[in-house]
Amino acid sequence: MRDLPKVELHLHIEGAAPPAFIRGLAQEKRVDLSGIFTEDGGYAYRDFHHFLEVYEAACSVLTGPEEFARLTRAVLEESASHGVVYTEMFISPDFCGGGDKAAWREYLAAIEEAAAGVPDITMRGIATCIRHFGPEKAKQAAACAADTAGDFLTGFGMGGAEDAFTPADFAWAFDCAREAGLGITTHAGEWGGAKSVRDSIEALNPSRIGHGVQAIDDPALCDLLVERDITLEVCPGSNVFLASNVFNGAVPKLANHPIERLRERGVKVTVSTDDPPFFHTTMTQEYENLAHTFGYDEAVFTELNQNAMDAAFCDETTRETIR
Ligand code: HPA
Ligand code: ZN
Repeated sequence: MRDLPKVELHLHIEGAAPPAFIRGLAQEKRVDLSGIFTEDGGYAYRDFHHFLEVYEAACSVLTGPEEFARLTRAVLEESASHGVVYTEMFISPDFCGGGDKAAWREYLAAIEEAAAGVPDITMRGIATCIRHFGPEKAKQAAACAADTAGDFLTGFGMGGAEDAFTPADFAWAFDCAREAGLGITTHAGEWGGAKSVRDSIEALNPSRIGHGVQAIDDPALCDLLVERDITLEVCPGSNVFLASNVFNGAVPKLANHPIERLRERGVKVTVSTDDPPFFHTTMTQEYENLAHTFGYDEAVFTELNQNAMDAAFCDETTRETIR
């Protein structure tokens, strides 16, 4: 399973930082982050909002382009070791220069250069605003994204707390990114319900949705996803750990996850890890779990990877090289 070529569309660069990497930086900078780690060295969080707090605390020690370059190398080497041949990573201008365009350019250049040096894997970046930071910060993030749109930075997205503001509040930011030629995705339906997916589609017109799995509760919405050819970036392991309401009261375990029901309805699904060390997962682990729980075989994984390649934010030449 590990050697099977994989395409990953939904991975947060900061959320992929190994705890030891963050702990090392905290020690170097004499920042006390002991509260965010479990005794055995993993990340400690209670629920979704606390996850976001711990995430932001970890980000607080990632303070320069060189640190993001080191992080990029570490994350890509780990991904490549799990057979990932192409990956798209969410990078937040908020954590890379705080929305300042000149600073963002430096961070992004360092990340791009680091990525180019890692063999056997191709990376593209998705600049990502953070929903609970609000529409004004999102506008700054979009302006940064638009300023650097090109071969490497190919998408714009939104993560963060799905219950903050409304998708329509971010329409300006997404329009700005779209006009710069960036591919559009947004987190929705991870825990904000099917309505959150529908509202996001109406307000932001994305070609992909991060998670989106709660669409299963609304058959007409599933039809809309099929009709509009919207691809879901499904992160099953992340949902099992973090998003218990995806399971509608059922035990949050993979067997109760909607991925297969969505696929049966004809919705295009893909598989990603989201924030692997937070959810104790890897792409190999995700594939093994899906094989074990739903009987997915090589033919199904080929289909999922095909969906991911078709929905990837890259040019046709790159798409051909990963086929
Ligand atoms: N959801 C929302 N925001 C995030 C996530 C997530 O799974 N990971 C990092 N930021
Ligand atoms: Zn995510």
